[in-house]
Amino acid sequence: MAVSSAPGKVYLFGEHAVVYGEPAVPCAIEVRARVGVEQRTDSKLRIHAEDLSLDGFTVEYGGTADGPPDVDVRESLLTAAMGYVDGAIEQVRDVTGEDEVGFDVTIESDIPLGAGLGSSAAVAVAAIDAGTRELGTTLETKELAERAYQTEYEVQGGQASRADTFCSATGGAVRVEGDDCRSLEAPDLPIVVGFDGGAGDTGQLVAGVRGLREEYEFAADTVESIGDIVRNGEQALAAADVEEIGRLMDFNHGLLSALGVSSRSLDSMVWAARNAGAYGAKLTGAGGGGCIVALDPTDETETALSYTPGCEDAFRAELADTGVKRLE
Ligand code: PMV
Repeated sequence: MAVSSAPGKVYLFGEHAVVYGEPAVPCAIEVRARVGVEQRTDSKLRIHAEDLSLDGFTVEYGGTADGPPDVDVRESLLTAAMGYVDGAIEQVRDVTGEDEVGFDVTIESDIPLGAGLGSSAAVAVAAIDAGTRELGTTLETKELAERAYQTEYEVQGGQASRADTFCSATGGAVRVEGDDCRSLEAPDLPIVVGFDGGAGDTGQLVAGVRGLREEYEFAADTVESIGDIVRNGEQALAAADVEEIGRLMDFNHGLLSALGVSSRSLDSMVWAARNAGAYGAKLTGAGGGGCIVALDPTDETETALSYTPGCEDAFRAELADTGVKRLE
């Protein structure tokens, strides 16, 4: 069996605008998905998934043609586990040329699903890495990121940027603009995450922003302004100016809110963090529900979030310098 892990991420700046060619800066954090892959003697795929917030489940099937199995778990987890793992295994088969090989796949993830922390990207990266290694091939990070991106792209019907998968494969802070992905120098950021227990519908939220952008010139300008924030943010990161990074995150949240992708619980958590003295706070990822990211070196934000109605979990997250890790 080969086991790999890959980290989740927060967006410091630029989600949504990245869809329209503006740059974005996600940053990998030490919450991980671990995926074990073991070759079978037949061509079946068996997936066992454990998630922090849900009971585990196991599905066994002969391939996508069998249709979804009848198991009693939240559909998002099932779709995530099956869709992304299916896609990842297809990539493994493509890389190795072993079309008929079956696998037992075990997923353990600490990353809440669909909450803006890049759970699907982490699962795709770790599954492709472990799957290819199980068959004796070790992919370079760039190819691993590319293959994971292809997986997300296909599962999400063409609605995926390279940000999550590249960040998860390489670790650290990265800058993504269209097809151009590169690592950035980043100071050790005092990241605090607040999670409302929910999830947004990325497809719907992206479509909402697209609609606004087509209808109103000022919405298109808002998207461009987010790009300006990202460019300023890159300079602040290079200068390790955490206060300025926080101010720009606040600004970024305001513009995301104007584009209609925040929610009451996300706004409550952002304001709780700001009132607690955080350098800045914003939603991360598609929005609609899920997580916020704040910067605060003290315990104040975490404490304030834990008392905030609508916040289900608050935790400090270290920056993950390493992307994919080969555990076995
Ligand atoms: O919520 P997440 O982690 O899937 O992030 C979505 C980010 C968007 O910019 C809204 C879409 C994308 O693919 O970049």
